[in-house]
Amino acid sequence: MYKAVKTNKDTWWLGVNDRETDLFESLWPLPQGVAYNAYAVLGTTATAAIDTVKGPYLDDYVNKLTEALGHRTLNYLVINHMEPDHAGLISQLKSVWPSLKFIGNAKTVPMLKGYHGITEDIITVKDGDTLDLGGHVLKFFTVPMLHWPESMVTFDTTTGVLFSNDSFGGFGAHEGSIFDDEKNPERWEDEMLRYYACIVGKYSNIVQAALKKLGGLPITGIFPSHGTLFRKDVKKVISLYDKWSKYEADKGAVVVYGSMYGNTRKMAEAICSGLGDSGLKDVRVYDVSRTDPSYILRDIWKFKAFALTACTYNTQLFPPMEALCSKLLSRMPKNKFIGIAGSYSWSKGALTALHDYAEKSKLELIGPEVEVYTSPTAEDLAKLFELGKNLGEAVSNE
Ligand code: FEO
Repeated sequence: MYKAVKTNKDTWWLGVNDRETDLFESLWPLPQGVAYNAYAVLGTTATAAIDTVKGPYLDDYVNKLTEALGHRTLNYLVINHMEPDHAGLISQLKSVWPSLKFIGNAKTVPMLKGYHGITEDIITVKDGDTLDLGGHVLKFFTVPMLHWPESMVTFDTTTGVLFSNDSFGGFGAHEGSIFDDEKNPERWEDEMLRYYACIVGKYSNIVQAALKKLGGLPITGIFPSHGTLFRKDVKKVISLYDKWSKYEADKGAVVVYGSMYGNTRKMAEAICSGLGDSGLKDVRVYDVSRTDPSYILRDIWKFKAFALTACTYNTQLFPPMEALCSKLLSRMPKNKFIGIAGSYSWSKGALTALHDYAEKSKLELIGPEVEVYTSPTAEDLAKLFELGKNLGEAVSNE
């Protein structure tokens, strides 16, 4: 999008597409890029920008904001979130609009000083406070830990638009349009769930609290800071967030394997056969060495069951599987069935580590746990088939 887009009454999108950053937070791949959405609401008596964009896009952002403002100045910058992908350039805005005032909450203030040395012209708001721009009254709601402690969202009581910051965001730069009703949903749903699983999912209980807090608002649009702007599927995305944050999942299973020489891969194949035999139609298989964990986390969040099988490496769990377990423990997806299987040659270790993970995960462990020496025998494969079948039946009988 090369210019500002008027989204609705007195409201503009000022975002940018980032197609250069390969890893979001230096962690998560961005094969479709990522968008930093920012906005302006122009009242009759005052103007406000809501969030900014990542630092390198200063010129693009300022040009769009200038275009939206026309002859007017910028009175306020609402800082919903201090993470630098939304606030990386705010210290430079004062030189463009010297009378600018920054709006944040008590937890924003030390970060403004820390990141930008800004200690003046800050208006500190509390949960439920409002700002009258003339014809548009903005209302602020704190949503701590979505996804930093100072996070808040801004609701335009006139248009019903919720500027939701990271919440309801997704990976993927805009292509052709910024709005949900002008995009194929398949293009944004998977990337929204991957974003949820990686960035927001850890705080699902807080998402639930936020949904309750905001539930009474007459929301007509949800404009997040990443990804698609929702003006048609508002109920759908709220319901997706409700589902994901309640750990409700689709009937399906994910099989993740770590294998050096193909023997553990054979174990995964037997688990898959069992899942298929149970009648489960949605089964996804991932090689943990060759699949970025964000895609595995996404599908583990999406489906009701998963199986982890890996070999032993230097007496311990195969390192890529260990890394995945660590990411899962950090996010603690709930209400799922898990199956585990390990292999070893000169020293055991994988199954013990997987069992340890399964216990810590507090998920329902479905048996049998299978441990294989060197290469799976026919008896081993039968047990692994049984594990897959049991997992599939647990999902089907839910
Ligand atoms: Fe998109 Fe938490 O920043």
